[in-house]
Formats: sequence, structure tokens, C-alpha cells
Amino acid sequence: MKKRFQKLLAIGLAVACVFSLAACTSGESSSSGGSTAAKKETSAGSGKIGVAMPTKDLQRWNQDGENMKKELEAAGYEVDLQYASNDVATQVSQIENMISGGCEALVIASIDGESLGTPLQSAKEAGIQVIAYDRLIMNSDAVSYYATFDNYMVGTKQGEYLEEALDLKNAAGPFNIEIFTGDPGDNNAKFFYGGAMDVLQPYVDSGKLVVQSGQVDFASVATADWSTEKAQARMDAIIASNYADKNIDAVLCSNDSTSLGVENSLEANYNGEWPIITGQDCDVANTKNLIAGKQAMDIFKDTRDLAKQTVSMVDAIMGGGTAETNDNETYDNGTGVIPSYLCEPVVVTTDNYKEMLLDSGYYTEDDLK
Ligand code: BGC
Repeated sequence: MKKRFQKLLAIGLAVACVFSLAACTSGESSSSGGSTAAKKETSAGSGKIGVAMPTKDLQRWNQDGENMKKELEAAGYEVDLQYASNDVATQVSQIENMISGGCEALVIASIDGESLGTPLQSAKEAGIQVIAYDRLIMNSDAVSYYATFDNYMVGTKQGEYLEEALDLKNAAGPFNIEIFTGDPGDNNAKFFYGGAMDVLQPYVDSGKLVVQSGQVDFASVATADWSTEKAQARMDAIIASNYADKNIDAVLCSNDSTSLGVENSLEANYNGEWPIITGQDCDVANTKNLIAGKQAMDIFKDTRDLAKQTVSMVDAIMGGGTAETNDNETYDNGTGVIPSYLCEPVVVTTDNYKEMLLDSGYYTEDDLK
């Protein structure tokens, strides 16, 4: 009985908390929302922030989560950090719990950008502002800001790297290329693919680049969940059907989890000359492959910079101010353009990985052994 009462009380308090927050942050009430608790909850440098990350399976999100927690705590916030095992229903319920548990702002790296409409509507009604982290949340007007890297530039840099490495402007070719991008529910995948194909498509059209598998359009080259295993299985099939007696000159991979699958497949099934392979994230396994000559380039996205930028957005929101943005035209989520801050991605090769990854303290020498 006592337990039941405590439970009801807890639910009642959570609901009251949500309503007092709504009153406080929407500025609709000055009398009932004027308690010290409510006031404190909306000031910069105090209160609880919910951080929803997609998965622990990929290295980068562990780093993102840790950096965010560290930076937010250093700025004075309490942090509710959750990982959703790449499961949309889990992420939805984590966000609902953050709202009912008293979080005053939410930072969300979505699994599927289209699937958060309902919980974000509740956040909006409760006056809780939302920052889309790294991946844009689509078709929700509850999103105040977007903090990310320049995703189109990531793709362009991968495409330009291949253009230069194959000397596409001058060489006669033709060269064989295969293409791997990411999850179709991740808005970023379209930007990575689009940026790279804006450079490479003219060469495909002219016949200088040949995709022997015939798989070129976004739907054919997407990789559900950005899964290494799925990329590997697709590459196995492509090699078996097309490359028994041909070389693959290049593989455009949008990120490291897909490159790793391609590299594993090549190692197991392919006898030709090793292709030029792109990647993104500088995951440890891929950086080791880069050093070993199995991956030609990577894109370094310093998640420490993204975390810092996002925390300054949180501070602006919590303090009732306006956050710094540097792109107010690119990212329309279906309800309008979301003011964005884009950090800059950097190309990493064996020439500069020491400077970018070791000297900057991102990794230690031991991490890469
Ligand atoms: C991120 C990439 C990451 C991919 C898979 C994308 O949204 O921007 O950095 O490799 O998701 O997790």
C-alpha cells in the first residue's frame, strides 16, 4: 500500500514538474511558475539535461556520449545519458522518461529521424527545448537547433579524394568503383551520398567510372543500421558476381562501419589489387587499417568540438538566450529550416593522422596498436 502511494506520489510529482516547467519556459505564467525550483530549472548552468544517443555498438557514439556528459557536468548540469541499442521504440521510451523525469532540455542523436514526432510533441507541450545532435530530426516543429558536422562536405571530401587519387580529371580509365552509404532513416546518409555523388556522378555518366554491380542509386547502396555485417554481406555478393577476374579500383564508403565490412569482405574473398577505400569517423579499427594501408582515407570529426558547441547551445536555451549558429539555410526538417551549427570535417590519411589524432589527444599510441 505504502509502495503504491509512493509510486502515485512519484507520478504526481513528475506530472506537476512537467507542468511547472511548461509554464516556466513558455513564459506563460509568472505567478505559479515563480517558485525557486522552477526558476532555477531554467537558468544556464543548472538543471537536468537529457542526452539520447542511438547505440553503443559504434565507437563514435560512446565518445559523443562521454564528451557530452563531461562537458555538461563541467558546465553545472545534471545529465541523463541514455543509449537505445539502435532500437527506435527504446529511444522513444527513453525520451518519454527524460520528459517525465524532469529534464529541462533534450539533446538527441536520433536512430530514425522520422520517428520521434510523438515524444517531441510532449516535450514541446512541456516547454522543453530540443537540440538535434549530429542527425537532423525530421518533421517535428519541436526542434530548436541542430548541431552537427558539415555532412555535405563530408561526402564532397570523400568524392574529391577519389577523384584525385584516381586522377579522374586526366586519366583515361575506365575504373571500377562500388558504392556503400548508410541507413536510409538517417538524414545524414543522404547528405554524405549526395556530396560524394555530386563529384563522382559525372564520371559515372561519362563511363570513366564503372559500377560493375550496377548498384548506384541511393536505395541500392544504402546500408540498414550502418551495419558492418550488412555491408560485408553485400560486398561478398558483389565480389562473387562481378570481380572474379577484374580489379576493383575504388570503394566509396560513407563511414567507417561500412568500410570495415567492405575491408573484411575483400580480405576474405578478393584476389585482385586492393582498392582505394574511403571512410568517416576515424574509428580505432579503421585507423589501424589506414596505417596498415587497407583504407586510403578517413574523415575526422572531432566529437569534442561538437560536444562543446552543443553545450553552448544548451546554455543559450537554458539561459533564455539565442544560440550561436553558422548555417541557417541548409537543414529544413519538413517544418522549416532549423538553425544549425556545422563543425568542419577533416580528411585524414597516413600523412596527417599523427597530427590530427595523436597530437590532438584524440587517441594515444597505445589505442592504435
Ligand atoms: C554519423 C556518422 C556515423 C553514422 C553511423 C551518422 O549519422 O554522422 O558519423 O558514422 O551515423 O553511426
